[in-house]
Amino acid sequence: MEVKDVANNISEVLFTEEQLYARLDELAAEIDAEYEGKEPPVLVGILRGSVPVTYELAKRLKTNVRFDWVAISSYQDSMTSTGKFLIEKDITLNLQGKNVIVVDDIYDTGDTLLWMKGRIKDAGATNVDLFALLEKPEVHKHSFKPKYVGFEVPNKFVVGFGLDFRQQYRHLRAICVLSPHVYEQ
Ligand code: IMP
Ligand code: MG
Repeated sequence: MEVKDVANNISEVLFTEEQLYARLDELAAEIDAEYEGKEPPVLVGILRGSVPVTYELAKRLKTNVRFDWVAISSYQDSMTSTGKFLIEKDITLNLQGKNVIVVDDIYDTGDTLLWMKGRIKDAGATNVDLFALLEKPEVHKHSFKPKYVGFEVPNKFVVGFGLDFRQQYRHLRAICVLSPHVYEQ
């Protein structure tokens, strides 16, 4: 889906598909450098928002990664997080002794990534790094910093490239600010 297809509901384009791809080229090169000569990591993507970023990142890697996916829901409405999570689909691979990179679309409060890191550690992983395509520094509740971050964004509700509003806009090519009139009605 293109920006023009939903132009009435978008107030700003933050990153075009080309800008996102260029940044993912850089991050993939960093991961390749990090894992050269080491056992390749398992990428654990958080469904559903991280599907595009996990796939586009992985395509660019020379490192022969494995994949796993988890689906969690936090007790939340569609716009905020509460820090409590329910596992809808758990890890499938045995992560004992593995290096893991948890991939998510956005580091907002940080509750999701922090909770996932604990969960993957509990599954026996040796090392857990965090990857967030976007981060909203103004909203963080925690002091940790993901090892890999694509771009910082302002404290506005963003959609596209995996990020949704009520399960829509995930297939929008660019990352855009959703017009407040969409959720303020
Ligand atoms: P956190 O746990 O507060 O860091 O929130 C992370 C999750 O909240 C992400 O995986 C997204 O699903 C969702 N989220 C946070 N901010 C936005 C946004 O601006 N647009 C769409 N989803 C968001
Ligand atoms: Mg999410």
